[in-house]
Amino acid sequence: MAKDKSIWFCTSCGNESSKWMGRCPACGEWNTMVEQTVATGKQPSHGTASRTAVNKPRQLSEVGSAGERRISLHLEEVDRLLGGGLVEGSLVLIGGEPGIGKSTLSLQIPLGCPDLKTLYVSGEESPRQVKMRAERLGGDLSNTYILSETRMEDILEQAKEIAPGLMIVDSVQTMFSQGIDSSAGSVSQIKEVASQLLYYAKSTGVPVLLIGHITKDGYIAGPKILEHIVDVVLQFEGDDKGPYRLLRSIKNRFGSTSELAVFEMTGRGLREVSNPSEMLMPMHEENLSGVAIAAMLDGLRPFLFEVQALVSTAAYGTAQRSATGFDVRRLNMLLAVLEKRAGFKLNMKDVFLNMAGGLRITDPACDLAVVCAVLSSNFDFAIPRDYCFAGEVGLSGEIRPVNQAERRITEAARLGFRKIFISSYSKVPKTEGIQVVKVSDIPSLVRTLFK
Ligand code: TYD
Ligand code: MG
Repeated sequence: MAKDKSIWFCTSCGNESSKWMGRCPACGEWNTMVEQTVATGKQPSHGTASRTAVNKPRQLSEVGSAGERRISLHLEEVDRLLGGGLVEGSLVLIGGEPGIGKSTLSLQIPLGCPDLKTLYVSGEESPRQVKMRAERLGGDLSNTYILSETRMEDILEQAKEIAPGLMIVDSVQTMFSQGIDSSAGSVSQIKEVASQLLYYAKSTGVPVLLIGHITKDGYIAGPKILEHIVDVVLQFEGDDKGPYRLLRSIKNRFGSTSELAVFEMTGRGLREVSNPSEMLMPMHEENLSGVAIAAMLDGLRPFLFEVQALVSTAAYGTAQRSATGFDVRRLNMLLAVLEKRAGFKLNMKDVFLNMAGGLRITDPACDLAVVCAVLSSNFDFAIPRDYCFAGEVGLSGEIRPVNQAERRITEAARLGFRKIFISSYSKVPKTEGIQVVKVSDIPSLVRTLFK
């Protein structure tokens, strides 16, 4: 007979424990353990009981090496993000905050692929609501089957009957399996639902797109736990008030990660932005102080975007430091370098930093543009609009070379930039149409740029 017992899960990493702890021993986060009741004694339906074929170990040399088959989703940017299309039998998680556009994208995919029979399972919207949305998005409605259902066992049964070429499940938090006693959206349900879908995808070869919500305060960290289970994780980012949405691949068993696709939310759904530099470039005509253009790289694709800084005298004793889209600790480090190595008195100044378009930056090559934007605002000296920057700033104020400098330079030249500032330690061949200015440290940068 099934018996209930309590288990504690870490919402940050999914670690399981038999008792509550203030700090998760696996990931070191505080206050992340939540209690879940699980029924023991019941066999989850994807377990060994339902398996018929028995797998045997094989010599690696005997395993066929024919590449995995990929399905094009007719969305160039999404195909690129996936590493060249959706792999058959893969489980792909699309995560993001509510309202960012997960349902829109996942409905646009089947509507744009009339040859792909799709089963769209919605646990959040009625078939009528989905129909209304589909009509607004436009496209071919004939090959998309909609199912409003939340019980996994029923969904998999319907899937068997319809035999689709693609299954979309919106969202993992609304689905539940009858094998588990806790409510939908709990950690154990999320894990069970994902494992059932994984088993379905692997055993039938049908790719599954699974949608997962991430709340702003990270309360339901379901998608974090799911990251270990699924093959690919695509994450929606960006400012849901602005028109631009960024889809980033943060895990991909069939391709590279840290690739980025940019979309614009329009009245008729998401539109792919194939040249992101254009959207992230300055929106003003004249030269303004506090603005610098960084040449950054996402995956292999270079693009340029605007870094904005505002430096003002601290109104209340302690200086404020705030950064949107940039690590505030890194900003503090860069300010300390400016203070110690170049003598700028920034300790009594408020510093605000913003990355254009809701972008979240992790590429260290953006350091140089951040430093230049801060200095430009501090001196109230506008940097010419056709200058851009790519360099990492070290603790002693030296400007360090960045990877793939040539790609960045070529992209800057293509977009009509006149000068690009890079580290003097970079070795790059001469590029037509752009002047490469090499700087070795912050003082030499200041001498060249702000004289
Ligand atoms: P949605 O895809 O439902 O977000 P999620 O599934 O991630 O919660 O929709 C996101 C927002 O996009 C919603 O506020 C309305 C807006 N939207 C448009 O601007 N244009 C459109 O064509 C659609 C379908 C939605
Ligand atoms: Mg939705």
